[in-house]
Amino acid sequence: MKFFIDTANLAQIKEAYDLGILDGVTTNPSLMAKEGITGEAAILKHYVDICNIADGDVSAEVISTDYEGMIAEGEKLAALHENIVVKVPMIKDGIKAIKYFSSKGIKTNCTLIFSAGQAILAAKAGATYISPFVGRLDDISFDGMELIAQIAHIFAVQAYPTQILAASIRNPIHIIKSAEMGAHVITSPLPPILALLSHPLTDKGLAQFLADHAKANG
Ligand code: G3P
Repeated sequence: MKFFIDTANLAQIKEAYDLGILDGVTTNPSLMAKEGITGEAAILKHYVDICNIADGDVSAEVISTDYEGMIAEGEKLAALHENIVVKVPMIKDGIKAIKYFSSKGIKTNCTLIFSAGQAILAAKAGATYISPFVGRLDDISFDGMELIAQIAHIFAVQAYPTQILAASIRNPIHIIKSAEMGAHVITSPLPPILALLSHPLTDKGLAQFLADHAKANG
């Protein structure tokens, strides 16, 4: 399973990349706004900055909701860097745009997936990735992980090449369960990724090893 970081914060992207486990980055308009990146020129530059830090796919989301607008924006984004993946919302014109980008060899990430039907449509259109939002489903009392399992089953049965990118990850259990359910990728903020490191018995065991070594070696 690939690890993407879900942020537009350059320092956090660098921290995750320096760990050696980062395969890519996802952003969205909310995450860009959170970093204070506004205006087309600054937004485009920021995507290039991200591509220059992280070696892997970088999802850059279109703002347009009509077919022509999405095509124009997506082509501009894709021309920024070879690692750019055009992120397109799960709407009717989005499906048409994904089909177009797929025919041109431009990678896509279909975002805001909340059902298996949406996942099937995006896969049929040729999306490189589909992003089911597990945390937001949990928020409204639907089990996000059940959706990942269902989509993973369908994609395996149908041999769809589209990759399941579990998004809206909120905690380390979401990451572990995504791996268990067969997601191809998770995208997570940095804290849940770092939380995978921790176990009290690891801390206790290491302290004991170091204490025993110091006692024996003076
Ligand atoms: O990748 C999608 C993600 O950014 C949404 O996360 O926590 O806002 O639901 P969240």
